[in-house]
Order: sequence, then structure tokens, then C-alpha cells
Amino acid sequence: MANILLTGASRGIGAAARTALTAAGHHVIGQSTAGGDGLIAADFAHAGAADVLWEQALTQCDGRIDVLVNNAGVFEAADPADADAFAAAWARSLAINLQSAADLCRHAVLHFQSIGGGRIINVASRAGHRGDSPKHWHYAAAKGGMLAMTKSIARGYAAQNILAFSITPGFTMTGMADEYLASRGGDKLLADIPLGRVAAAEEVAETIRWLASEAPASLTGATLDINGASYVR
Ligand SMILES: NC(=O)c1ccc[n+]([C@@H]2O[C@H](COP(=O)([O-])OP(=O)(O)OC[C@H]3O[C@@H](n4cnc5c(N)ncnc54)[C@H](OP(=O)(O)O)[C@@H]3O)[C@@H](O)[C@H]2O)c1
Repeated sequence: MANILLTGASRGIGAAARTALTAAGHHVIGQSTAGGDGLIAADFAHAGAADVLWEQALTQCDGRIDVLVNNAGVFEAADPADADAFAAAWARSLAINLQSAADLCRHAVLHFQSIGGGRIINVASRAGHRGDSPKHWHYAAAKGGMLAMTKSIARGYAAQNILAFSITPGFTMTGMADEYLASRGGDKLLADIPLGRVAAAEEVAETIRWLASEAPASLTGATLDINGASYVR
């Protein structure tokens, strides 16, 4: 069974993934902003927080991490007409949604090179493919960046048994989905999802669990869409 560092483990998709991975017998080292409930505290709005988290996680699992799951994220609106809010939202979104994930991927790749391989799972978003609302350019840009980063890692390190996957959920039933739905017209948006409902956090968690241990190596570099066919490509 694997030692797995999972960010954003307190709520939503991350909490469901923590449950699924633990039930599968893995040792999960979880993170949230404030910590508590056995989670390591790390606020990715602050530069260097991901570096400290990596070291703390390593000490919790005898110096070996097999899988990194970058799941923590924020979805915060910014009006382009408000220059200060726009700049602040871009900086915060990129720091939390992309830079922290990049920092952890950097540690993971170097670590995996020393132990003979490992897996990275980056939770991006459908927005990374198709864009987002006028108040969420930054979010879509961060998630699109995450997709490109994941592909770069997959292509660069597959020969060293380092595998990298992205997941792109659409609306998923969490606190963040409530914000999404409210920001874009509520129930009317469900009409845009052929499946007729948003995804359950457990569905995304099951995909994370599968990618963490069972997905074949040849899948590396892939992006798995989980969106009820609301965006097919
Ligand atoms: N829900 C959706 O519809 C949806 C759709 C597409 C993609 N996603 C992606 O899926 C992932 C999980 O989403 P979710 O809906 O489960 O989110 P959520 O319920 O809002 O939970 C977010 C998680 O990220 C952590 N987090 C928030 N701000 C942080 C910060 N500054 N530093 C470190 N950690 C922070 C939270 O920790 P605290 O509890 O301590 O705040 C929490 O564990 C995100 O990357 C999101 O972009 C979600």
C-alpha cells in the first residue's frame, strides 16, 4: 500500500478521496489550510508553504511518499472592472491553484527519482479546457496551466517510472460547486449537463483512488474528464 500526500483533504473532493484511499489501505497524509483532524496545516497563499508541507509529510511517513495528489483549490470571483481586486485574485488564484501544486510536483519528481518512481494526480477542472465565467479568468488559467504542467511531467519522466495524470471535474457536489452554481444561474445550469446532475465527490474520489494505484502506466499524461458529458472533446 502506498504513502499518499493529499492536499485539500478537509472538505469536498479531498475529504471523499481521503476516505476512499484510506479504505483501500493506503496511508494518507492530508493537508488543509488550518489543519486539525489529523491534517497538516499549510496555507498555499503564502510562498514556501508547499515546501514546508512536503518536508512535514515526509517525516510522517518515514521518508517515503509514493503518490502526490494536488487537490486543494479556491474558486473566488474577481470583477475585471476592479483593478485591485482583479490583481489580487490573479495572484491568490495562481499561488493556491497552480504554484503550490507546481512546488509539490517539483519535490515529488525529485523524490520519485530517488526511490524508483511514483505517481502524481493533479485535480484541475473542466474550466482548464473550456474557460470559465467573466469573473473567473484566473481560475481557468490556473487550471489550464495545471493541465500543461502535468503533461510536461508525464512526458519528461515516464522513462523513470514517474507517472502523471490530470482529472478535470465539471460541477461536483461540494461547497465549491454551490459557488459555481450560484455564480452561473443555479438550477438552469443543470440543463447543460446531459447526465442531468452534478458529479458526486465520491465519483471524483474513486477516480483518484484508481489513478493512485491501479491505472496502467501507459495512461500517463492522460486527462480524465468527469463532467456528465457537459464538455466532450
Ligand atoms: N467542486 C467542483 O465543482 C469542482 C469542479 C472542478 C474542479 N474542482 C477542483 O477540485 C478540487 C477540490 O474542490 P472542492 O470542490 O472539493 O473544494 P472545497 O470543498 O472548497 O475544498 C477545498 C480544499 O482546499 C483547501 N484549501 C482552500 N484554500 C486553501 C489554501 N489557501 N491553502 C491550502 N489549502 C486550501 C481547503 O482547506 P480548508 O478546509 O482548510 O479551507 C479544502 O480542503 C479543487 O482543486 C477544485 O478547483 C472542483
